[in-house]
Amino acid sequence: MTGFTELPIRLRDSDRAALTTHFLSLDADDRRLRFGASLSDLAIRGLDERIDFDRDELFGIADDELRLVAVVHVAFYPAKAELGLSVLAGARDRGLGNALFSRAVMHLTNRGVREVFVHCLSQNGAMMHLARKNGMRVVQEGPETDAYLALPRPTQGSIFAEWAFDQNARFAHEFRRGARLAIDAMRAVTPVAAR
Ligand SMILES: CC(C)(COP(=O)(O)OP(=O)(O)OC[C@H]1O[C@@H](n2cnc3c(N)ncnc32)[C@H](O)[C@@H]1OP(=O)(O)O)[C@@H](O)C(=O)NCCC(=O)NCCS
Repeated sequence: MTGFTELPIRLRDSDRAALTTHFLSLDADDRRLRFGASLSDLAIRGLDERIDFDRDELFGIADDELRLVAVVHVAFYPAKAELGLSVLAGARDRGLGNALFSRAVMHLTNRGVREVFVHCLSQNGAMMHLARKNGMRVVQEGPETDAYLALPRPTQGSIFAEWAFDQNARFAHEFRRGARLAIDAMRAVTPVAAR
């Protein structure tokens, strides 16, 4: 696993294949924590087609190899939204989950959504910790937990802050993409012994 910035970028329809690769990289336990069931590879491969980019929003963080290491799916319901987060095992405990959470909250606040929730298993220590750390109201019902956060109304400042954030994140991502392409091109023309 190589380096990454903590600036989530907005994912697009063209990122479906990268999303599938990300979800396939989760092991059986992580799939259960993320989706509520240890989905098979076949089931995971069908997931990306069901994502509605017109209705929902997804943000991701890529590493230097342009691999998606962290993803949040923001699913919209009337008057509220649900977050589904996943960070690859080798990239955890470095603040990426928190960065995704903050990015999703910024997005939802500026769209006038008043409440966000996360559904997780009560045994999910990392997610429960993230929820409490972000001031969510945690409602535990046996093995399952819902965590809720009331969101403020948008302001001109919050809208501008999101715009500026997106510019920075996209710039940082494109810079990395350019660097990656340049490195790959150099490797292609450099004899193996000289690398
Ligand atoms: C939950 C998840 C997204 C967190 O991602 P992450 O990038 O590791 O999150 P962060 O690094 O921002 O924060 C993790 C925090 O949890 C803490 N933590 C990690 N494991 C923990 C555990 N078992 N119990 C309590 N706290 C734990 C870390 O110390 C860190 O705390 P800190 O930032 O206050 O030091 C990641 O573990 C994951 O993808 N899990 C599998 C899928 C999943 O559970 N999704 C959530 C359900 S939607």
